[in-house]
Amino acid sequence: MERLQKVIANAGVTSRRKAETFIEEGRVKVNGKIVRELGSKVSAHKDTVEVDNIPIDKEEPVYYVFYKPKQVISAVRDDKNRKVVTDYFEEVEERIFPIGRLDYDTSGLLLLTNDGDFANLMMHPKNKIFKTYIAKVKGKPSKENIGLLIKGIDIEGIKTAPAKVKIKSTNKKNNSSIIEISIHEGRNHQVRKMFEAIGHPVLKLKREKYGPITLDKLNPGEKRVLKPVEVKKLKESAVT
Ligand code: URA
Repeated sequence: MERLQKVIANAGVTSRRKAETFIEEGRVKVNGKIVRELGSKVSAHKDTVEVDNIPIDKEEPVYYVFYKPKQVISAVRDDKNRKVVTDYFEEVEERIFPIGRLDYDTSGLLLLTNDGDFANLMMHPKNKIFKTYIAKVKGKPSKENIGLLIKGIDIEGIKTAPAKVKIKSTNKKNNSSIIEISIHEGRNHQVRKMFEAIGHPVLKLKREKYGPITLDKLNPGEKRVLKPVEVKKLKESAVT
């Protein structure tokens, strides 16, 4: 929290001295209410400050890669009070939100940002950004079934776009297989539904890659700031 006049000055609106005058003159609103006290403390990121009814500069964009653990909601709040991804970002002042979602029981790579344009670019269906998942599935899918996933399979009346699919290993004893699958669409529960459609339900699912971005050395619950070059690469990979 910082003094109101400092927040206004830091946003480049005017000098700190003049900001004080603006406050005394009733020209400054915090969260919609006129504030005349010079000592008022505000958060530059969480409070809305307006001078002459014009919001001062918005936040700098920030970009994170996060290793979502299982049993965490990909949202900023939850009605049922379950853990949400932003609980792992309490020290981050910017109003960040997840780009897309992973299921409650899916772990892995999730991007978060406060940059709405960037999020829209990443999620726009015309931008074919491949996301790679490692799925543990029941049984061992046949070559024909893998072929169906690669070519596209009917899910709720709509064929999925071509996928890249590789069987990594099979465990006969546990009757399960580990499969790497890359898709660029983001339909609800898509990977689970694709495997369900070939009769090999998903037992465990993790997202390992989002376009050129990997989890690297992150552990579940950990995050890192994306480097500007990584943000640039993501934007480039969104260009079809
Ligand atoms: N596909 C799924 O089925 N679940 C996810 O969380 C992501 C992709």
